Amino acid sequence: MVFNVLQLLLLLAGTALAGMNKTGTLCTVTPTGGKDDTPDIMAAFKQCGQDGQIELVEGDYTIAKVMDVKNLKNCDISIRGKLTWNDDINYWTKNSIGVDYAQRSTAWRFGGDTFSIRGHGQALFFGNGQKWYDVNKNGSNMAGRPISLTLWEAKNVFIDGITWRQSQFWSTRRHTFVAHSQNVTMTNLDMNATSSSQYNTVNTDGFDSWNSKDIVIKNWVVTCGDDCISVKGNSANIYVKNVTCHRSGAMCIGSMGNGVTETVDDVVFEDITAIDSSNAAWIKTYPGNGHVKNVTFRNINFQNVNQPIYVSPCIYSYSNCDSSRLKISDITWENITGTSRYNVAAGIYCSKAAPCTGLKFSGIDIKPKNGGTAKVLCSNMNSDSGLSCTGTCPSGWKQQLSGNA
Ligand SMILES: *[C@@H]1O[C@H](CO)[C@@H](O)[C@H](O)[C@H]1NC(C)=O
Ligand SMILES: *[C@@H]1O[C@H](CO)[C@@H](O)[C@H](O)[C@H]1NC(C)=O
Ligand SMILES: *[C@@H]1O[C@H](CO)[C@@H](O)[C@H](O)[C@H]1NC(C)=O
Ligand SMILES: *[C@@H]1O[C@H](CO)[C@@H](O)[C@H](O)[C@H]1NC(C)=O
Ligand SMILES: *[C@@H]1O[C@H](CO)[C@@H](O)[C@H](O)[C@H]1NC(C)=O
Ligand SMILES: *[C@@H]1O[C@H](CO)[C@@H](O)[C@H](O)[C@H]1NC(C)=O
Ligand SMILES: *[C@@H]1O[C@H](CO)[C@@H](O)[C@H](O)[C@H]1NC(C)=O
Repeated sequence: MVFNVLQLLLLLAGTALAGMNKTGTLCTVTPTGGKDDTPDIMAAFKQCGQDGQIELVEGDYTIAKVMDVKNLKNCDISIRGKLTWNDDINYWTKNSIGVDYAQRSTAWRFGGDTFSIRGHGQALFFGNGQKWYDVNKNGSNMAGRPISLTLWEAKNVFIDGITWRQSQFWSTRRHTFVAHSQNVTMTNLDMNATSSSQYNTVNTDGFDSWNSKDIVIKNWVVTCGDDCISVKGNSANIYVKNVTCHRSGAMCIGSMGNGVTETVDDVVFEDITAIDSSNAAWIKTYPGNGHVKNVTFRNINFQNVNQPIYVSPCIYSYSNCDSSRLKISDITWENITGTSRYNVAAGIYCSKAAPCTGLKFSGIDIKPKNGGTAKVLCSNMNSDSGLSCTGTCPSGWKQQLSGNA
């Protein structure tokens, strides 16, 4: 038997052996110190993933393989270590797990019924993102660039106290993605993906939901280059509270309806701060079918946001805007304050084929950061919204402005 020095020291010190051991229903994983730790972690899920507990003790773990953890059942997972996804881009792009959403893929997927993942404010997921940002060279949606953590067919889930840095490894993919899931609470998460090179991070969303319902997000801090919290197609009953978004798209419904009928219902965003972001409280759909209904943006404060309030029925192509039948209704913006980067507070364009109804605004106080007054541009929406429109919004109005309008 061959021990490496670390194992030998640990052994001599009488502490746990590197690896995985099971005591009753508890599987304890100890890092091996440089070798790939995924076989031990997967062994723990195999042996304790049903009616058990899994503990990754403090220490540095190396993650060199995708982890697909399905069929969890009554399992509490506790992570106190730092997990580093290695930067073998060739491996990850070939092996990350496809998740059936716009050719996206993931590095770590969880599914099952009734489980928790607690990081105790100690768990750190380090994605080695810089290498991905540099290989991606500002491109969008690089194939195989995996999402850090995906909940897939997961029910009754609690996730708390995890920090992400250089996101997700390869990141630049999204940090977290919740799909085909129900009753998911994610609290006290901290994410920061920042590129130090000439290339941006690109597509490092903080959170995306899709085909999921009953989700609570609370107490997050996100720095990323893309949407911060994004509620995508067929999501319902989503509650987001106390999130700070830096350099991001902040609170977003969409994009959705890209060639498929999709709906979003019953969403609340409240107590949100957005700093140096592209938008703050906004909705983006492709021209198509479906609806966005009953969404509230409340107590949103921001500094230096490109276009704080924005609605588009024809995102990205900015064409066929008037033919969209994807109906946007019963949306409330309440107590929305802060500074815009340019002289536009709101750009709202609704489709002529399905004008917006039931839009309500109150307590809107948005000032250009360089002084003056901000324009409020509106088209094809209900006139009793309470918003003081200063002009019409042109069809195909873009999400990003590059100067005063
Ligand atoms: C196995 O894990 C327990 C914690 O449950 C630990 O106390 C023990 O030292 C470990 N044993 C070995 C041989 O690693
Ligand atoms: C939602 O999930 C949590 C966490 O597993 C669980 O405690 C709670 O009972 C679930 N709620 C419902 C309505 O099933
Ligand atoms: C995110 O990380 C970058 C680079 O390390 C750092 O400059 C920035 O302050 C961090 N953001 C927050 C909100 O901590
Ligand atoms: C990448 O995109 C960012 C933001 O659009 C830009 O500032 C930067 O110059 C781009 N890098 C290169 C090398 O084109
Ligand atoms: C809001 O979230 C931040 C960051 O997680 C946390 O420090 C703060 O205590 C939270 N505020 C409230 C009122 O819960
Ligand atoms: C709108 O959504 C909120 C929050 O999810 C919910 O409490 C309320 O019942 C919904 N209203 C309607 C009319 O469905
Ligand atoms: C408006 O929102 C801010 C946070 O952006 C909050 O501090 C303030 O209490 C809110 N005002 C009301 C009347 O709720």
